[in-house]
Order: sequence, then structure tokens, then C-alpha cells
Amino acid sequence: MPGRSGDRLKGKVALVTGIGAGIGRGIALMFAQQGARVLGCDIDAAAAQATVEAAAAHGVAIDSLHPLDLTQPPLVNRWIEHAVALCGKVDVLVNAAAFGSFEWLAKMDYETQWRKTLVGEVDIVFLVCQAVWPHLTKGGSSVINFASANAHVALPLSPALAHCAGKGAVLAMSRQLAMEGAQHGIRVNTISPALVETAATRGPLDEVEGFREQVLAKLMIKRLGQPEDIGWLAVYLASDESSWVTAADFKVDGGATAW
Ligand SMILES: NC(=O)c1ccc[n+]([C@@H]2O[C@H](COP(=O)([O-])OP(=O)(O)OC[C@H]3O[C@@H](n4cnc5c(N)ncnc54)[C@H](O)[C@@H]3O)[C@@H](O)[C@H]2O)c1
Repeated sequence: MPGRSGDRLKGKVALVTGIGAGIGRGIALMFAQQGARVLGCDIDAAAAQATVEAAAAHGVAIDSLHPLDLTQPPLVNRWIEHAVALCGKVDVLVNAAAFGSFEWLAKMDYETQWRKTLVGEVDIVFLVCQAVWPHLTKGGSSVINFASANAHVALPLSPALAHCAGKGAVLAMSRQLAMEGAQHGIRVNTISPALVETAATRGPLDEVEGFREQVLAKLMIKRLGQPEDIGWLAVYLASDESSWVTAADFKVDGGATAW
């Protein structure tokens, strides 16, 4: 269980995608501990349910609609309508769900790897933002999207071509969303993590020879990131503490992209 109890998000209704694993799971749990009413979703029903139960075991509540595939616009709309019916408003959206393929240019399959990654990293962020936009609390809401260190730098040994394109797109579109949202009191920011230890990264860390060493060599702080490292920034960006912060990108990366 990451985080600790507090009231930094008391009274906030927060939607979090991808609560079944990694960063989305950590953020959902930390938001609930900080007093937010959290509604999650995930395509993986068992994983999402495990997060709901982990919250309950620690005396906090997370609601979730699962399984829910965010690549399907009618299901995205259903989730948002469910949230509004249940909670009456939406203050915070965290787009943590994503999926993609890692492959070198020469071997990349257009349909099953390139396009799949752009759907899994860009389209699902667009779809959820568009569906929730009219419901976001006017005058004080926050959208948190995930770019990546790979939106800024290339990492040797990592076949991250489609991921770089996807995260570069999220970075750019979030700036545009911030501009479009400002007049409605909607703030939009991105978090750019370097490698965080999650289900998505454990494979390459354990299986690709030299990759873990390469990642660690790039870090000024010599440990891998954990969901909690990201979660505290998300708590800040979701809260009114960050009410003058929009169109910003935050590198939470142990110094990896600074040298
Ligand atoms: N872990 C890292 O090192 C890292 C680094 C930079 C950026 N990011 C970004 O941070 C975010 C979270 O990453 P993570 O490592 O925690 O990911 P993860 O793969 O561990 O978890 C993603 C969750 O999203 C869910 N999901 C995937 N497709 C879905 C769909 N179509 N509909 C609904 N749910 C779906 C998965 O089931 C999973 O529970 C992602 O946007 C990722 O690109 C992660």
C-alpha cells in the first residue's frame, strides 16, 4: 500500500484509468487515502478488483467499473456517465491506462504494433478527455496525463519508437488541452516518468540483457522509480495546491533526463 493518510483531496471526485496495475493503482490508492472519492476502471477486471479490495483492507474506498475497454468510445461514455450519476461531478481525471508495443523500426509491424501503440497511448487519452470535458467542475478541475522520459530522450537498448511517438503526442496534446481548458477552469498537466517498476516494465528489466544496468546508469538517484514516487506529484496536481499550474510537464525521473 503506497502513500499515507491525509486530507489533501478531501471533497474531490477523481476518475483514474488503469487502476489494476502500476502507476494507476498507486495513484488510486493514494488519492483515496488523501480523502478523494475515487472511481477507477480497467480492462483487467481481476486486477481492478484487487485494487478495490486492497483499498478496503486499508479502510478506504475505491469504486470501479471493470472490465472496461477504453478503446471503445461507447464504453468510455458509459464510464463517465456512471461517474456523473454516482458522484454528481468530476474534479480530477488521471489518464494512467495505456498499452503499447516495443519494437525496432526495421521489425515494427504497422497494424499490430505501430497503430496499436498509438491507439493505446494516444487515442484512449483523447477519448476519455473528450467524454469527461463537459462534466469537469468549472473553475477548479485538473487533468493529469502521462507523457514519459521517452517524450524527451531516447534510451539506448530500448526499442521505444512507437512509445516515443505516442508520448510525444500526449505531451503536445496536453498543452493544447490546457489552452482550451483554461477558460473553463480546467487545468491540464503531464507527468514524464523515467522507468518505474511496474507490470509493464518488469519484463524488459528482467529479460533484456544489460537493460537494467543501462537504466540505472542513466539515473542520478540510483534506484528504479516506484508508483508512489509518481503518486505524490499526482496528489499535488489533483489538489488546489497546484491551482496556478497548467500546461506544465513534470519530469519525475531520478535525474535521468538531465545529463
Ligand atoms: N512504468 C514506467 O516506467 C512508465 C514510464 C513512463 C510513462 N509511463 C506511463 O505511465 C502510465 C502508467 O504506466 P504503468 O507502467 O503503470 O502501466 P501498467 O501497464 O503497469 O498498467 C496499465 C493499466 O492500464 C490497463 N489498461 C491497458 N489497456 C487498457 C484499456 N484498453 N482499457 C482500460 N484499461 C487498460 C492495464 O490493464 C493496466 O492495469 C502509462 O501511461 C505509461 O505509458 C510509465
